[in-house]
Amino acid sequence: MKAAVMGYGTIGSGVVEVLEINKDSIAKRVGDEIEVKYVLDLREFEGDPIQKKIVHDYQVIANDPEIRLVVETMGGVEPAFTFVKAMLEAGKHVATSNKALVAEKGSELIAIAKAHNVNFMFEASVGGGIPIIRSINRCLVADVVEEITGILNGTTNYMMTKMTVEGSEFADVLKDAQDKGYAEKDPTADIEGYDACRKIAILTSLVCGQQVDYQDIPTEGISKITAVDIKYAKAMGRAIKLLATSKKVGDSYSVMVAPCLLAPEHPLYSVNDVYNAVFVHGNVLGDAMFYGSGAGKLPTASAVVVDMVESAKHLDKHIPVEWHPEKLQLVDSGLSENRFFVRTTAEEAAIKNIFGDVEFVKAEGVSGEIGFVTSVMTEADYKVKAAELSDVIQMIRVK
Ligand code: HSE
Repeated sequence: MKAAVMGYGTIGSGVVEVLEINKDSIAKRVGDEIEVKYVLDLREFEGDPIQKKIVHDYQVIANDPEIRLVVETMGGVEPAFTFVKAMLEAGKHVATSNKALVAEKGSELIAIAKAHNVNFMFEASVGGGIPIIRSINRCLVADVVEEITGILNGTTNYMMTKMTVEGSEFADVLKDAQDKGYAEKDPTADIEGYDACRKIAILTSLVCGQQVDYQDIPTEGISKITAVDIKYAKAMGRAIKLLATSKKVGDSYSVMVAPCLLAPEHPLYSVNDVYNAVFVHGNVLGDAMFYGSGAGKLPTASAVVVDMVESAKHLDKHIPVEWHPEKLQLVDSGLSENRFFVRTTAEEAAIKNIFGDVEFVKAEGVSGEIGFVTSVMTEADYKVKAAELSDVIQMIRVK
């Protein structure tokens, strides 16, 4: 069976590698060997064995009737969308790892795939090698999913773990993550939470079956977390993690991405380094956790190849996915309730006067400021009270 890979970067080359490493076991499962006939890339890869497969025009792939499976690992919305649409319209199954494409065009591409009796699959777009998309689409279907909370970004989880273990500053840890190849040269999407935001938008779209626009999700990253915040977290016996949370409220969901202070009893407290985990609560299932390699070349490529194998086993069948284009109006995030950890230079009396009963926190070696945790209140109430305080240095939600 002939396949094509569009984008020979980290994940695309990983897909070629996985198909080679596990050639025999994959052939047994499919009943045929999957052979990569074309690799679409702007570069030539002079001297690399892949060079003879390189093409620069996506129409070569779209117009070749031998190609049944196409992988998209280019990243970004365009030209990936144009290329993927052309492949689906040409009757080819597509598997992608591209969360930006899936978050923005997922429902549209699923509809195009359905119209052409092929599949648009995107297991690798969330949680790397963790099979969370398939689990939501196929396994958790007896439930109404009431909560999904995930550590969905490996880079930032690595950074928060390292800051906690070593007490180091954000900039040093970011440089280390870049040196190790976890963070991109431009790490904005990871550290500002945009990557996790797109992933929770995809998961929420799948549990509600409607379009959740990532632009509607309040998103805070970890770029303002400092070594002093980590000292306070340690004083509280907690860990700071970047969480992407989606909670059912009435007929909609309340969704947010933000760093949070987790207690050791929280199911995501022990998820460290580049690992990802997704906690799911279903109304009849109760709790479930999915944990594993959430980023990186081979884990992500593994998930892409799973999609290829599934399409290869159902060549003449569209496997339905419930994700319709009607937009879901998310619940006003101002109504969601939390306790808030606050650092301020304001006086104790002023804090009590504004916030009422609070718990003060002392962190070793920190002076000239006060740390405290509020009682449970809405985001909107917190905002009003914080504005009354003379100086908020930091605020982190407490779970
Ligand atoms: N930059 C992403 C991460 C890659 O660190 O999780 C996987 O989507």
